[in-house]
Amino acid sequence: MNALLERYPDEVKAILARYPQEQKRSAVMPLLYLAQRERGVITVKDMAEIGELTGMEITEVGSIVGFYTLYHDSGPRFRVQVCTDLPCALRGADEFLKRLCENIGVRVGEPTADGSLVIEEVTCLAGCHHAPMFQVQGDGEITYHEDQTVESATETIAELRRRAAGGQHE
Ligand code: FES
Repeated sequence: MNALLERYPDEVKAILARYPQEQKRSAVMPLLYLAQRERGVITVKDMAEIGELTGMEITEVGSIVGFYTLYHDSGPRFRVQVCTDLPCALRGADEFLKRLCENIGVRVGEPTADGSLVIEEVTCLAGCHHAPMFQVQGDGEITYHEDQTVESATETIAELRRRAAGGQHE
């Protein structure tokens, strides 16, 4: 039995129903998103199951996961992605990122010791006039945090780590 189909029968069927049988490969993106929603990562087993559902080779599914930055095959539960593109940099994003990492005690791109999250540097998130800003990916959602201070971002990260420690999925 396909575990993804077993866990989310209605959602998988609804996604597959959006595409004609001969184009079921097109369902790969929403199915990957569904698989990632629960644990924040897409496992090899998920890729094999999605391959089964869409008639694709596992290597094809894997190459899609590798190509898109919204999909992850490994890593922590939360990704805190700070925009440091030029407009944000002009509003202090580089200093913000540096001080935030110092506060948390991590380097950009390195997971925290508890493995709960990673702080990453990304390009424009379309919130330029509200910099410093970041988005958080995790638990199947993306949340935006604008007009941030190092203190407010540190508090958000503390909350994310408390959630991860409690195993709480919202
Ligand atoms: S440059 Fe940072 S959100 Fe646009």
